[in-house]
This record gives sequence, C-alpha cells and structure tokens, in this order.
Amino acid sequence: MTKQPILQVKQLQKQFPLYGPFGKLGGVKQTVHAVKDVSISMYEGETYGLVGESGSGKSTTGRTILGLTEATAGEVIYNEQDLTKLSKAELRKFRRDLQVVFQDPFSSLNPRQRIGRILEEPLIIHGIGSKEERIEKVFSMLEMVGLQNEHFYRFPHEFSGGQRQRLSIARALIVNPKVMICDEPVSALDVSIQSQILNILKQLQQDMDLSMLFITHDISVVRYISDRIGIMYLGTIVEEAPTEKLFTNTLHPYTQALFSAVPGKQKRERVILKGEIPSPINPPPGCVFHTRCPFATERCKNEVPALREIGIEGSQHKVACHYAEETKQWSN
Ligand SMILES: Nc1ncnc2c1ncn2[C@@H]1O[C@H](COP(=O)(O)OP(=O)(O)OP(=O)(O)O)[C@@H](O)[C@H]1O
Ligand SMILES: [Mg+2]
Repeated sequence: MTKQPILQVKQLQKQFPLYGPFGKLGGVKQTVHAVKDVSISMYEGETYGLVGESGSGKSTTGRTILGLTEATAGEVIYNEQDLTKLSKAELRKFRRDLQVVFQDPFSSLNPRQRIGRILEEPLIIHGIGSKEERIEKVFSMLEMVGLQNEHFYRFPHEFSGGQRQRLSIARALIVNPKVMICDEPVSALDVSIQSQILNILKQLQQDMDLSMLFITHDISVVRYISDRIGIMYLGTIVEEAPTEKLFTNTLHPYTQALFSAVPGKQKRERVILKGEIPSPINPPPGCVFHTRCPFATERCKNEVPALREIGIEGSQHKVACHYAEETKQWSN
C-alpha cells in the first residue's frame, strides 16, 4: 500500500498587492508574485526541507500553509479538508495539529510571562488536561528540550538565544502536533548552538513521529535534517528529491549552482550564475530561471517547464527543466 500524505499543498499561489503613494485609494500598482506555483506532499514522520535564496518565497509558503496569510489560489489539504477555504474560526480546530517555530523566538514569547505559564498556555487554549497534568507536562517538556526544572519560574529575557529557541520548540510541541513548520529556526544562532538545536529537533521529530517542514537558506543544515528536499527559486520549486539523491545526482542548473557555492568546493567545480535574482514583481516568462541559466534556449523563454518525475517510475526525483535528461552531461 502506498503511503498517504499527511499534508498536501497543491498549486499554491500567493500574490501581494503593492499600492501607490495614496494607499488602497490609488488602486493596485504592482503585484509581488511571492509564491507562483508550489506543490508539496508531506508524509508522516518525514522532514521536508525547503531551501532557496533570500526572497524566493519560502516564508510566504510556510505562512500561507498555516493560514497566517491568505492564499491567492491553490489548496492545502489536511485531514481531507482544504484549509485555505476555512474561516478563521474553523481553522482554529486545526491549530493544535499544525505548529510553527520561527527564527526569532524572542518576539513570539510574551516577555511578562514566566516560562511555566508560557508553556502551559497552549494546553489551556486547547483544553488539554487538568491543572496538575498540565504542569507535569510542562516539566517533562522542559526536560525533553534540555532545559531544567528551575527554568519554570524564569522570564524569557533571562535566557540565551539558544535556550529561547528550545522554549519555542517546547511550546510548539507540548500540544502533540502532527505537522511542524520551522522557518529558519537556527539561522540566528551560533554554529555550535545550531547543531544542538538541530539535534533536539531531529530527536523529537523521530520520537513524536512528526512531519516537519524545515525552511532554510543553509545547504548544510537542510542536508543534515531533511529526508527530502525541495529547491525554491522565485516562488516555484525547481527540483525535489530524497536528500542523498539530490546531492549525488543534482539535475537542475540552479540547484547545481546553489550547491557549488557551498564553501569547500574546488574552484573548478563551481558554477557561477550571471546576474541577480530577478524581482518577483516581474518574474520572467517561461522558465523563471532562464535569465540566469547558462543553458537556456528559446523554448525556456516561452514555455514554463513542469515539475516532472525523472528516471524510473517512483524515483521521487522531480525537476522543472525542459532539458533535465541532458543536465547530467552539463555538470560533468
Ligand atoms: N507582506 C508582504 N507584502 C509585500 N511583499 C511581500 C510580503 N511578504 C513577502 N513579500 C515579498 O515576497 C517575496 C518572498 O518573500 P519571503 O519572505 O517569502 O522570502 P524568503 O524565501 O522567506 O526569504 P528569506 O530567506 O530572506 O527569509 C519577497 O520578494 C518579499 O519582498
Ligand atoms: Mg524567510
């Protein structure tokens, strides 16, 4: 039996209207195509890494999946429901199952509340357990993220950045969610602290059989944490594959360039991209990458390449490039 996805994102789109100096009165002047077309299937207990340069639409994808910002088009199917069609009140029922951890934990922790209260609050909101059971859960959650019992009485400002990220992970996981979206959860931290937090996330994800969408711009982080990876460029996924397959058989010219920029690569292995990432206000027609692709042809300028499976059926390796079958030779 094939596994059913726990969360399915189908052809998701998010556009932001930009207004002129007179605000909404002057009408929409331009549109930012932050997410152009993103489809992701997430399976139980798997970590899906979403990686791409700044401005490629990673955070907007995460926020739209969670309903923190309204989708322009597309579907987010969870529990046979399309979350994008639900009202705020209806969406609340699913809040417990879908949790989020952001890059900056400080802004999401109430500075006036003690940690015990901050961690108990999601349990109160979702009506979980008696007072005693809740407190017990808070203490066990503190332990699970590597904090001590005495931290229960402290305030957020009395913690280091790494400890605060442990707290926001604890707060997200205390309600036993099914899916967790982590948006650059370690990007603001020291490298040594980064690996501690990544290890905690990995351990908890396995213990709790969580599905995790892990958003980052860091290639080595995404490689370490993910079972599968999607590469994002200008609001679209250009390549998707199980982690090791993606690194050993990199097919999209953009992915090849992205990976070759990782420090430690020999100079001759590097693929240098020409030009800047285009503005999402006027994304290029055809293949979004054609303006920077060393192999682009006329066809790439006019025809949007579909994200299609490459190789034998069930390979799980998908590429959005008209010439994916030939890219292996290009990279040699
Ligand atoms: N509320 C908004 N209004 C207008 N434009 C927005 C808004 N939020 C995001 N954008 C634009 O959408 C595009 C994608 O932004 P997003 O934050 O999703 O990128 P990202 O991949 O998460 O980047 P980073 O790695 O820097 O976090 C950017 O061009 C950004 O300026
Ligand atoms: Mg972001």
